[in-house]
Amino acid sequence: MTSISTKRNLDRYIPLIGDINVKSPLAYTATRGVVKVVNAVQMAVAESYINGVEVPDSVLRSLFDTCMPIFFKYFPSLLAPYEWVLQETDRMAEGSRDLMKLQYDLPQDMLNRMLGDGKVIYPKYSMGLWQKGAIDLQQSQMHMIDDLIEKLDIQDGDNILDFGCGWGCIPNYVMSKFPNVRFTGLNLSHEQCEYMRHKMQDPESYLSSGRFTLMEGDLNDAQFSEKFDKILSVGVFCHVGNLTHAFAKLASCLKPGGKFFLHIITVRTPNNISSVYTHKYIFPHGRFWNFDAVPSHNQDLKTIERWYLNGTNYSQTFANWLKNFDDSYTDVKELDYGIDFAKFRRLWRFYLMWFVANFASCDGEINGNGQFLMVHA
Ligand SMILES: C[S@@+](CC[C@H](N)C(=O)[O-])C[C@H]1O[C@@H](n2cnc3c(N)ncnc32)[C@H](O)[C@@H]1O
Repeated sequence: MTSISTKRNLDRYIPLIGDINVKSPLAYTATRGVVKVVNAVQMAVAESYINGVEVPDSVLRSLFDTCMPIFFKYFPSLLAPYEWVLQETDRMAEGSRDLMKLQYDLPQDMLNRMLGDGKVIYPKYSMGLWQKGAIDLQQSQMHMIDDLIEKLDIQDGDNILDFGCGWGCIPNYVMSKFPNVRFTGLNLSHEQCEYMRHKMQDPESYLSSGRFTLMEGDLNDAQFSEKFDKILSVGVFCHVGNLTHAFAKLASCLKPGGKFFLHIITVRTPNNISSVYTHKYIFPHGRFWNFDAVPSHNQDLKTIERWYLNGTNYSQTFANWLKNFDDSYTDVKELDYGIDFAKFRRLWRFYLMWFVANFASCDGEINGNGQFLMVHA
């Protein structure tokens, strides 16, 4: 027996450390018990902050910077706050309406200022690529879409589905480069769809070219009457709880020989992760799939290539969003968040600061983004 398999066998019986998916029943139960304590502590810290306990940013940051590497490296199982984080859910995406209310249909003026709203680069709520020397947020997003164009091998004339298209940033940018590419964009957020409808009437926007079709709807229910040459989905699968169902659906609308490019937040830990804080306040039912989860679901679509993008790219993106959010204070403080702005501001800054730290911890080598190129199995 090798030393690795001996250690794996031993880990089976020791709670907390290593891979929770292989624990003996006793070690599993003990680990889940400690998770409850971690959840309670995390929520107590977060809620004290958002309810008004004044803590300087530097203190909060050092708390994140100290704790996160320890969890990521030694106790990843404690980052799975609920059993559902470890398993596939029944529905492809759970709690979609709550998610829209809490996150994507927030006042758009705030979100658009935070994400950046350019002439060609519309708000894009996903990682920018900084490692190729981008000088600002907008350029980092252009570099990221250029990278996607290359990896998905987009050709002029392709008919493409953007599964969870946000504000239409990727379709708009790609269509600006390819005069014969057509796009269909699916999104459940009514506010983001309104943004795109407005652009579809704006002669300066490529969304008005007649080559863009908007579908407002839930990815659980979406039916497509045509098949696509290429499909892409960027930053959406943290809201997908069932990869098997999602890949079956996408395979059914991908042409033979077509390609699917999936870009997700990922963790190089043995288990998927989430948090009680983000589940309650930011992304209900959101989870970060571990880097091996996608290739281990090769039933209808199979992964033929994958890339890990270092988390520091996302840390820098979040740092820019945090700065934009802070800079827009006077313009966004009167908008309707459903709660008092002072509280919303703390709740939102807690999330942004945490994610700046998360993606930077362990030099970005554990919590980053994953890209997967998939074809029919
Ligand atoms: C993080 S944003 C990424 C948007 C875009 N791909 C980008 O890179 O900017 C996730 C997108 O998925 C959409 N989304 C989330 N859950 C959805 C669901 N159940 N049905 C349809 N769209 C959904 C959100 O409204 C949002 O536009």
